[in-house]
Amino acid sequence: MSLSDSEFFTGLIRERKGIEGKIRSSASDGRRIPIIRDDTATLLEILVSQKKPEKILEFGTAIGYSAIIMAKASDCVKSIDTVEIDPDMVIEARKNIENASLSNIIHVIAGDAAEVASCLSGSYDMIFLDSAKSQYVRMYEDLKRLLPKGGLLVCDNVIYYGKVYDEPENSPHKQRTIVANMRDFLKQMFEDEEMRSVIADVGDGLAISEKL
Ligand SMILES: C[S@@+](CC[C@H](N)C(=O)[O-])C[C@H]1O[C@@H](n2cnc3c(N)ncnc32)[C@H](O)[C@@H]1O
Repeated sequence: MSLSDSEFFTGLIRERKGIEGKIRSSASDGRRIPIIRDDTATLLEILVSQKKPEKILEFGTAIGYSAIIMAKASDCVKSIDTVEIDPDMVIEARKNIENASLSNIIHVIAGDAAEVASCLSGSYDMIFLDSAKSQYVRMYEDLKRLLPKGGLLVCDNVIYYGKVYDEPENSPHKQRTIVANMRDFLKQMFEDEEMRSVIADVGDGLAISEKL
C-alpha cells in the first residue's frame, strides 16, 4: 500500500486556489490531461524553493501547470524552457502562462523531447522530465550533459502505476516497452557514480537525482 491509497493521507492535501486551481480543474474537466498530482506538485515546489535554480528545463509541458508551479515556487527562477510535442497543448500552455503573467520566464519550445535535448547547449540547474516515458533511457546522456555539478534531474511517473515494480513480461503487451525502458533508465541512473539518486513515493513515483 502506498500513501496515495490512503484516504487519510490524500485528505491532508490542500486544494489549490487561483490560477493553479483553475488550470488543475481545466485539466480534469472531461479531458483527463495528465498533469502532476498534488503531492508531486508540493515536492517540486519544495525542491525549487530549497535548490533555488535560476534556469530550469522541462520536458512535457501539457497545459503549463507544472512549469507555472515551478516558476512561482521561488523568485530565484529566472527562466524555464519547457518542451511539448502536441501543437494544441503548446497553444493552451502559452495562453495559461500569459494569464499567469509568466511569459517573461516560461518559454514553450514546440518539438520532440529527445530531439530538442540533443540540440540544446549550455546548462540548466534543474531538469524536470515528464514527457514520453520510453524516451528517457536514450535521453539520459543529453540530460547529464545539460546539468552542472549539483544540478538536479527530477523524473515523474517512474513507478508507472506500479507496473515498474514487476518484470516487463507481467505487464499488458502495449505497456511492456515503456516498463522495460523505464527500468533500464532507472538502472542507468542508479548505477551512475556521478549521480546520487532516490525515488520518492509521491504521485506516480518521483525520481530525484543530483549530479555529483
Ligand atoms: C504528463 S504530461 C505533462 C504534464 C505537465 N508536466 C504538468 O504536470 O503540468 C506529458 C506531456 O508530454 C507530451 N509529450 C509526449 N511525448 C512527447 C515527446 N516525444 N516530446 C515532447 N513532449 C511529449 C504530451 O503531449 C503531454 O502533454
